[in-house]
Amino acid sequence: HDHLHCWVCATLLQMVKGSHCFCSSCAAGRLVFENYLRTEYNDENLLFWLACEDYKTNYCETETNVDAQRIYREFVRVDAPRQINIDFVTRKEIRENISHPGPNCFDRAQRLIYSLMENDCYPRFLKSELYKALLEQAERK
Ligand SMILES: *[C@@H]1O[C@H](CO)[C@@H](O)[C@H](O)[C@H]1NC(C)=O
Repeated sequence: HDHLHCWVCATLLQMVKGSHCFCSSCAAGRLVFENYLRTEYNDENLLFWLACEDYKTNYCETETNVDAQRIYREFVRVDAPRQINIDFVTRKEIRENISHPGPNCFDRAQRLIYSLMENDCYPRFLKSELYKALLEQAERK
């Protein structure tokens, strides 16, 4: 597997999900991205995205209520400790969704947050010193 190809071509999705590519560099890349977001005080977006992904994949009728509530309390409601940046219509829609939580009850919010990361955080990350250091490291391998 070509490490360099992996760094340069990694899309945000490949990085955060670690899908398509299972090389150790991508896992490292995701951690670095997470660290970078933390330095920007912006990691709630990625954490929300990952929590929704986890929720969807491990969806199980009996426990979803609790899980959906946890995501709502941590990321969505107005005084949430890790409040994500969504409009009030979306927030309201989620509140309605989680009163009867299905596997897709965060789908649109997740897509919104994804494009926010893709268009905002990710390009900044690619210009950061942290990413440059990562590239240099990969090139030396
Ligand atoms: C609410 O739930 C529906 C269906 O379960 C889903 O399609 C929609 O994207 C959800 N809304 C949000 C804001 O995620």
